[in-house]
Amino acid sequence: MRIGVDYYPEQWDKSMWQKDAELMARTGVKVVRMGEFSWARIESEDGRFDFSWLDEVISIFAKHMIKVVLGLPTNCPPLWLYEKYPQIIRTGMDGNKVQLGIRSHRCLNSPIFRAYAKRMADAMVSHFTMNLTVIAWQIDNELRANMCACDVCRNRFREWLVEKYDDLNGINEAFGNVVWGGEYSSISQIQPPSDYPDAWQNPSLCLEWYRFTSFSTADFANDMMCVVKKHCPKIPVTTNAGFTEYTPDFYKLFDMLDFVSYNNYPPVKIYDYADYYYSHAFHLDLMRGLKEQHFWVMEQLSGITGGWTPMSSGLKAGMLMGYSLQAIIHGADTVMHFRWRTALKGAEQFNHGILDHSNIPNRRFFEFSELCKKAEQISVLDNTVILSDIAILYSPESEKALEFQPQTENFSYINQLKAFHSAFTRFGANVDVVAPDTDLTRYKIVVAPSLFIINKKETENIYRYVINGGTLVLTTRSGVKDSNNNCIMEALPTVYKELIGAEVYEYNPIGNDVCAIKDFADNEFICSQWCDNMKLTTAKAYAEYVSDEYYSMPAITLNKYCNGFAYYIGTICRSDFYESFASNLMRQTRIPKLKDLPKGVEVTTRTNGEEEYICFFNNSEKKASISLPKAMYSIMSLTGKEKLELNPFEVEVVRK
Ligand code: GLA
Ligand code: ZN
Repeated sequence: MRIGVDYYPEQWDKSMWQKDAELMARTGVKVVRMGEFSWARIESEDGRFDFSWLDEVISIFAKHMIKVVLGLPTNCPPLWLYEKYPQIIRTGMDGNKVQLGIRSHRCLNSPIFRAYAKRMADAMVSHFTMNLTVIAWQIDNELRANMCACDVCRNRFREWLVEKYDDLNGINEAFGNVVWGGEYSSISQIQPPSDYPDAWQNPSLCLEWYRFTSFSTADFANDMMCVVKKHCPKIPVTTNAGFTEYTPDFYKLFDMLDFVSYNNYPPVKIYDYADYYYSHAFHLDLMRGLKEQHFWVMEQLSGITGGWTPMSSGLKAGMLMGYSLQAIIHGADTVMHFRWRTALKGAEQFNHGILDHSNIPNRRFFEFSELCKKAEQISVLDNTVILSDIAILYSPESEKALEFQPQTENFSYINQLKAFHSAFTRFGANVDVVAPDTDLTRYKIVVAPSLFIINKKETENIYRYVINGGTLVLTTRSGVKDSNNNCIMEALPTVYKELIGAEVYEYNPIGNDVCAIKDFADNEFICSQWCDNMKLTTAKAYAEYVSDEYYSMPAITLNKYCNGFAYYIGTICRSDFYESFASNLMRQTRIPKLKDLPKGVEVTTRTNGEEEYICFFNNSEKKASISLPKAMYSIMSLTGKEKLELNPFEVEVVRK
């Protein structure tokens, strides 16, 4: 396991490079990322490339046995390029060019931008082809869906729609443009969604635009990857994923790239509710699931954040190390900390790195040094994998569509996924978060919350899973929309009715009002936001409403379908319900549970086929004690242990 840092040589006087590299090497840093914003330094004039400064800094790192990841700096084209070709500047959804002055102002579809980006990348990659210190390339930085309404994007979008729907009639029909007189009579009338709130706009147009802007970003990334591969076919290429306002469809973005890397900034405040504790773990599992392989963290929380917001509170003792190790045990093979030293200049002066402005080794630095040692200590995990019996399906399209049309107060697609993830995590289970069309046969339990948008391939996959004996959980707001994001004239959950052996007779978006349900064993739980009243065909009720209006109507159903079981949860509950439900499911599917885990403690089990390692992480501010079923060998303290005492944010790894 490798620890690294993000470094910005162009922001520091040359005289510091040597000292920084020395200290990094002494501390245990194995790899640095650099260059991702440095196009202007590389090509300060049209066509004149200067890599000498990068050569110099890379050779310094090479001498210290530190490897380098280079960023292709397409995020920040030089100002002369914007000046020469203003048409490459992104156009906002309000139809105006965005103002220059921050970063990321380019339109990824602009042919001129692409040509310049490729020429620069070609020069850069070919220059470093033979440099063995460079071990990977990062494309751009935190790529977003290409939300640009410039003429190029408008025309491409029009072509994309015609290609998909054949002609204007096809598009009008698919979008239901008859509503509000929106039928196109000429292709020039097709426009991207406007600056109006999403909920007022045509949801079909919005979803198609999301697909198109995600595609544009992925297409750009693939194009850049091809430039790298032309010169060095074996070198791995990635881009660093971050959850932003315009998150692209990550499955599509990473499809062709070699590996996933993630910007991991867990919030420093610990809130006392279950979904929060395990939320970082959820995101890490989601990253591992994007390509169903291990990933890197390209930027890891290292200090007080506060670039664009008031500063967060400081990292508690143990947090810097704990969150980094947590990423490792969830599948990050390399964790790069953002950033080596806090910037003295520019917009991010208060987005702290490991070292403060003073450059005097501080508490976080000492913790980081210890982390570098611990990462080596757990090298036994290097060739181990995380095998899970449980999968949660993540659908970016359903997530997006539910964002366009919020269903009820407080309804959040992602929180439903997290609620299930937390519940299984409470019992120490490994959980995968994967795409709805992946091979599900290896799972004993599959949870698919709110598959709002239907996709034939996914539906068939889910049916196949249950037919072959799987245990499936669907929830409310499933099967609501066809693939054009239009409603369907059929009882809900439409395509899944047969599978769940029940249908929604009536629904009620109760928002923040509360209701109650009672399960088959008479346990009562509070629910809110949404109530589906279910009419049973072949299913049985797992739980009924006990509130007046819906008294004794089924809220949760269970159906035996071919060799498997399909549950449907018609409401949204609190964590106590999901825990009870997860516990029942695990018992039914014979997945072992770790009982009495202290709140906030996560367990990940990893195996190399011969040995099993159990990793514990205490994501809480309280000490946690855990009794092991027998004495196990601790990789951290090199002794046998029957009881673990974990400090806040501490990680322990034992051999089973
Ligand atoms: C993002 C970016 C970085 C930096 C950090 C600050 O993740 O990728 O360049 O701005 O945020 O937290
Ligand atoms: Zn554009």
